Amino acid sequence: MTLSLHNPVLLILLGITTLLGNPAAADFTATINPASNRGSWEGWGVSLAWWAKIFGNQSNLADIFFTTNSVSFNGGTLPGLGLNIARYNAGACSSNSVNGTTMAANSILPSRQMPGYWIDWASADPTSSSWSWSVDANQRNMMSLAKARGADRFELFSNSPMWWMCSNHNPAGAANGGENIQSWNIVNHAVYLATIAKYAHDNWGITFASVEAFNEPSSSWWTATNNQEGSHFSIATMAQVITALRSELNSRGLTSTAVSATDENTYDIGLSTWNSFNSTTQKNVGRINVHGYEGTGGRRDLLYSAASAAGIEIWNSEYGDGDATGTQLAQNLLLDFNWLHPTAWTYWQAVDTTGWGLIIGDLEAAQLSTVEQKFFVLAQFTRHIREGMRILDTGNNNVAAAYNAAGRTLVIVAANFDAGQYITFDLSEFSQPSTNGALVPRWSTHFNSSEQYALHSDTFMSGTKFWSYFDQNTVQTFEVSNVSL
Ligand SMILES: *[C@@H]1O[C@H](CO)[C@@H](O)[C@H](O)[C@H]1NC(C)=O
Ligand SMILES: *[C@@H]1O[C@H](CO)[C@@H](O)[C@H](O)[C@H]1NC(C)=O
Ligand SMILES: *[C@@H]1O[C@H](CO)[C@@H](O)[C@H](O)[C@H]1NC(C)=O
Ligand SMILES: *[C@@H]1O[C@H](CO)[C@@H](O)[C@H](O)[C@H]1NC(C)=O
Repeated sequence: MTLSLHNPVLLILLGITTLLGNPAAADFTATINPASNRGSWEGWGVSLAWWAKIFGNQSNLADIFFTTNSVSFNGGTLPGLGLNIARYNAGACSSNSVNGTTMAANSILPSRQMPGYWIDWASADPTSSSWSWSVDANQRNMMSLAKARGADRFELFSNSPMWWMCSNHNPAGAANGGENIQSWNIVNHAVYLATIAKYAHDNWGITFASVEAFNEPSSSWWTATNNQEGSHFSIATMAQVITALRSELNSRGLTSTAVSATDENTYDIGLSTWNSFNSTTQKNVGRINVHGYEGTGGRRDLLYSAASAAGIEIWNSEYGDGDATGTQLAQNLLLDFNWLHPTAWTYWQAVDTTGWGLIIGDLEAAQLSTVEQKFFVLAQFTRHIREGMRILDTGNNNVAAAYNAAGRTLVIVAANFDAGQYITFDLSEFSQPSTNGALVPRWSTHFNSSEQYALHSDTFMSGTKFWSYFDQNTVQTFEVSNVSL
């Protein structure tokens, strides 16, 4: 029934004109502000550890995640997500023994033991036998496949210093969750990452846009019995690593590779860590990376204010949740657009357990399974809000908008978590708000029904507005053409 009601011509034919002027109480209008500018969108991404260690040679997965093609998978066809950012993980593990000493990592799952390149402390020279450049072929391969498909931003990140840099030689963490890096290795951690960045530039055809030395460094859950690589750092040690990393990148000629920091677990911890740094350390940080695990909580706005004051951007560099429907993903992502104003957003594990993965997979058994509904929810955003677009204010927590100056199109993504209602989009503040009667293509995904990224041609401009009916638990994307700011 909604199909015809969106067409103003049909509305008039049917005599249902009241809907135009008298929306029900629950309906609302989002007015898009063309004067606003919440940053130039850098893109969408994913971390390659751990899934690419297992599935890094599957080009169909590269097609699904890094192109916007229609890709066959599991008997169906998927809309490629078109991600353009890959986060490559510098591993902390190696199986060699150094003078009778070996890594202690009994509890880290095999799929999460990422092979590291600097395998002993004897030499920092990357051409020496202390470095093994052949390890981790699968993760590197997925990065190459991504690049071949158009990915153009890469970040190098670390979950833990190499095992031999750790006090207990265990890259899962210290026994008590405290700091694990040995003081004589603080600079070595920076040397390790800068050396990989230089090697990647010279040998892999990859210039990392940024290097991140930490992963949730203030958290205390990085203990020796954890099942993944992790490392707690004190604020003072973080500051030393940041300073050393800036200097090691510079000395290798990588002056335009940013030091990103600090990938804290929440917006609030991210802000607190940032505020703990002195101005010299802050100036060495080229971008704030933060994780989105605070869900709907936390002061995204305060972290944004801090980044703005420092003149740097924010990436939501890691998001994941266990909600297979994509409801939480849409809710938190829309809050990010409205309050955090990141210029990029990267999912954690593209292939993971039920709920967490976009595609369900068993990394230990190297088996892929079905696609989650959240895959299609994410597609509603990633396929339309594209690199280079200007993010606009919408004045509404459930609406995001982006303007494509080259194509003169306006993209709007909106979700409805409440009872079914009309949402009206008001473009009257634009100098050219499309054309009266113009078709507005509409894609729709229901969080918990079978509708998956379905294209509808039933929505039209009515003067300087258009509207669409949103069932409860729906996300819809619109592309409005012939728009000038
Ligand atoms: C994946 O591809 C890389 C590079 O082509 C190769 O070195 C590696 O052995 C392959 N891995 C598997 C499991 O086939
Ligand atoms: C291993 O031990 C020998 C003898 O003590 C020492 O000369 C050498 O430097 C050590 N190697 C490393 C990599 O620590
Ligand atoms: C800022 O912190 C860095 C890293 O700890 C330190 O080297 C530097 O001396 C500090 N600068 C000031 C002005 O306190
Ligand atoms: C749809 O999913 C949401 C979020 O998981 C849940 O709260 C709601 O109960 C679901 N509704 C139906 C009809 O399954």
